Amino acid sequence: MCGIVGIVQQRETKIGKTIIEALTKLEYRGYDSVGIASISDGKVMITKDEGKISEVAEKIDIDSIQGKIAIGHTRWATHGPPTKENAHPHTDCNGEISVIHNGIIENFQELKEELLKQGHVLQSETDTEVIPHMIEQLVKKENQSLQEAIITTVRRLEGTFAICVVSSLEPDRIYCAKRDSPLVIGINSDRMFCASDIPAFLEHTRKVVLLHDDEFVTISSNGYEIIDFNSMKKIVRKPYTVSWKPEMAQKGGFPHFMLKEIHEQPNSLADYIRIDQPSLIKIAEKIHNAEKVFLLAAGTAHYSTLTGENLIRKYSKKPATSIISSEYEAISGLVDENTVILPVSQSGETMDTIMAIKHARELDATVLSVVNVIGSTITRYSDEVLYLYAGPEIGVAATKTYTAQTLSMWDIGLEVGKISGELDKSEYDSARELYRNIPTVIRQTIVRNESRANHISSWFAKKSSSFFLGRGLNLQTAKEGALKMKEIAYIHSEAYPAGESKHGPIALVEEDYPVVFVAPKDHTNKRMIGSIMEMKARGATAIVVIEEGDKDIEELGKWKFEIPKGYSETLSTIPFAIPLQQLSYYTAMRRGCAIDTPKNLSKTLTVL
Ligand code: M6R
Repeated sequence: MCGIVGIVQQRETKIGKTIIEALTKLEYRGYDSVGIASISDGKVMITKDEGKISEVAEKIDIDSIQGKIAIGHTRWATHGPPTKENAHPHTDCNGEISVIHNGIIENFQELKEELLKQGHVLQSETDTEVIPHMIEQLVKKENQSLQEAIITTVRRLEGTFAICVVSSLEPDRIYCAKRDSPLVIGINSDRMFCASDIPAFLEHTRKVVLLHDDEFVTISSNGYEIIDFNSMKKIVRKPYTVSWKPEMAQKGGFPHFMLKEIHEQPNSLADYIRIDQPSLIKIAEKIHNAEKVFLLAAGTAHYSTLTGENLIRKYSKKPATSIISSEYEAISGLVDENTVILPVSQSGETMDTIMAIKHARELDATVLSVVNVIGSTITRYSDEVLYLYAGPEIGVAATKTYTAQTLSMWDIGLEVGKISGELDKSEYDSARELYRNIPTVIRQTIVRNESRANHISSWFAKKSSSFFLGRGLNLQTAKEGALKMKEIAYIHSEAYPAGESKHGPIALVEEDYPVVFVAPKDHTNKRMIGSIMEMKARGATAIVVIEEGDKDIEELGKWKFEIPKGYSETLSTIPFAIPLQQLSYYTAMRRGCAIDTPKNLSKTLTVL
């Protein structure tokens, strides 16, 4: 949801190239337009245009963007279409103050009217443009210093923001401020960075400072200074070193981040299993002691919480309910001090989830989160955090973080079962053994199904609509498979409980209509045969995802994906999701889709 970056260097270089490289690492956040403000000869120079970073980079002369200081923006449009005029940076009337912004200014209409009355001329339809004009007004008409003016301005903003400001009035620094949108600082010996996310500067430095809400930062070649912009108190915060490696934010020989991230899953899951997190037991204890447990998440993360809900219920007999974050209102009246809220999020920045957490905290609920990005906003609102340790995920489609989320749900479910005494020791021990085997099963699953996915995709790519059907726990897998097909390959895909499909959706089925059946060899297997027969009788073409050797279902499918043995029934949601990731990837390839940056999407949705 918009990526921002700023660089302050000791020496003047072709800084445009460094900004474009950094923005490319943030492209997952938005790709509607791109813009850079650099300071050259004490003047602010703006270069911007609509389109993706690679398209804009072709149109502009990047090498001509020189200087010691620059800020850059990649946009996910909210206010106003993705045009050059609406591209950031935005400036004041004289082009002296330049601002990039990630977030939404909710009171921008009121601020804009005020500015228009004062004689300011605004060029865009964006909410952001009010910011440079407000700063200009305070500097020019009220004689405030640039720093004072920015602070006065951000105090008046309602909504969410991470902003960076450069100005010819003070051409040696970048000023930043944030509330509810992410901003981190990166430090190396001759350059300082600020960015929406760490991958932007990971190839330059692993030394990072996380900024908190309502903080204002001055970044110059001498370092950084943080103050609380409400109390004006100085904040001392030392950098820490992230364990991520630069190659984690590169494609490493794969054509797309999505494919790379699919292939990283044996390692990311092994990392999750290997890293002992003391928070796991604390989380399990708190869930055990709570009266009510609500799992909160959006999109793919929500599907992972369906495993959490099921396993907490199954292993500990404790009622747990999974809620889509934006539908939190449905349960908000039930939340109190005896409630555990369990948010699950890759980014830790999803605004629907954050807003629900904030409300639950006001009611004294305990917040126990499962997050991938260390230090992200959700972690700061949490009493305990379980990290996914999946590394940076750059492709907009969640893949490796989905399987890590699902594994973490399983991990939590198992521990709650143990603490509650509902799960006996031998059951627990054998479940843990299968759990440790998961990376191996996933490695074999990827290899076994790669060329099949590629082959089936040549037929699937010609379709305009499809069903994904599952039963029990694997309804979740079907939902995730359908979401991947929609968001990456732009094929309408609907997931349904297999048994429910006869109650309506089956009316859509016609000759050669694609239906994907997620059919592990568990207690749902026999019933799945009935569902496949029903669909085939209406002309559907069945693609079956089965356990190896499941001849009964195999012979009903035109095509099959096979999962090796070695997983347990409750863990099946992880390997069974893999071929569906592969199918959507190869189908999207054949349809010529922008796989890592699908249209209309952003990886991190920091708006409500
Ligand atoms: O960062 P989060 O896990 O909170 O994001 C939640 C969803 O926006 C995300 O899973 C989205 O559905 C992905 N594009 C799915 O691939």
